[in-house]
Amino acid sequence: MKKILVTGGAGFLGSHLCGRLLDAGHDVLCIDNFFTGSKTNIEHLFNHPRFEMMRHDVTFPLYVEVDEIYNLACPASPIHYQFDPVQTTKTSVHGAINLLGLAKRVKAKILQASTSEIYGDPEVHPQTENYWGRVNPIGFRSCYDEGKRCAETLFFDYRRQHNLRIKVARIFNTYGPRMHPNDGRVISNFIVQALQGRDITIYGDGQQTRSFCYVDDLIEAMLRIMNTPDDFTGPINIGNAREFTILELAELILALTGSRSKLIFRPLPTDDPRQRQPDISLAKQLLNWSPTVELRQGLEKTIRYFDQQLKLIAPAGLAG
Ligand SMILES: NC(=O)c1ccc[n+]([C@@H]2O[C@H](COP(=O)([O-])OP(=O)(O)OC[C@H]3O[C@@H](n4cnc5c(N)ncnc54)[C@H](O)[C@@H]3O)[C@@H](O)[C@H]2O)c1
Repeated sequence: MKKILVTGGAGFLGSHLCGRLLDAGHDVLCIDNFFTGSKTNIEHLFNHPRFEMMRHDVTFPLYVEVDEIYNLACPASPIHYQFDPVQTTKTSVHGAINLLGLAKRVKAKILQASTSEIYGDPEVHPQTENYWGRVNPIGFRSCYDEGKRCAETLFFDYRRQHNLRIKVARIFNTYGPRMHPNDGRVISNFIVQALQGRDITIYGDGQQTRSFCYVDDLIEAMLRIMNTPDDFTGPINIGNAREFTILELAELILALTGSRSKLIFRPLPTDDPRQRQPDISLAKQLLNWSPTVELRQGLEKTIRYFDQQLKLIAPAGLAG
């Protein structure tokens, strides 16, 4: 049994990760400032004897005794990370410094939840880990993209300078139950709009492609990355390599929800990548991992979750 710290543990991915780590028999300390996460995401864990929750902002130092750290704290959707961009950069950069400092003090192994956004609007498809990316350093998305890039730099400098055991996972679009219903991400947007019978907003012509990984597959990959030998640092891409156009996604969600919502088209936001697809050869080879959940199957579970949420929360609270 290990003592494991999960930062951002009350968020979408973090809450699933905490559950999986408890199931595996570990002690889990979840920290979160509840900016985008919520207690409801983890309330089913509150009575678990090996689960502990602490309200804490990673931009401040933390002193705890742990064996492993999963650093997930950071708002992940444009609506949320652009709300207070300075805080977003601080969360990635100061957060990384504080947690790497903690890992150094207590000799913990540390995994960074990095992102495909570090590739920016890529000229290379699919993206392999050795591609350096094409990121706008001064745009609206830069607080997130550059913050995450700098965090990766810090992880590798702590490795070179202090011989820390680091793992950098580059996560591509992931979806599933407990996604924030209002965060403007394409899957949650489409599902909520379809369930409420509102128009489904497609940015651009809908021919831009994305690949979507179901949360259970993603968490499995994160656990395997943490358990790789100490000399493996990553970066390593994790996600689903199967590409769908945004239009195909919208049509599938309409079919699965039986919704009569109409598709409406709006201009593309600035810096929105045209295509995003991971090359997951390294993960397949090294982790013996590949996604197992088909989009249709994952969407059915996610739709069921949002359907329940919409029944619990007044529709006005979810709209917009
Ligand atoms: N979901 C995806 O598709 C995806 C893709 C790429 C990378 N990631 C990364 O995975 C991580 C988790 O993403 P998610 O989708 O679960 O998002 P999320 O917003 O649901 O979770 C992030 C959590 O971090 C917390 N947080 C934010 N700032 C904090 C701070 N300063 N101190 C402490 N806690 C803070 C939030 O309250 C939230 O609970 C993020 O680092 C994100 O960048 C996610």
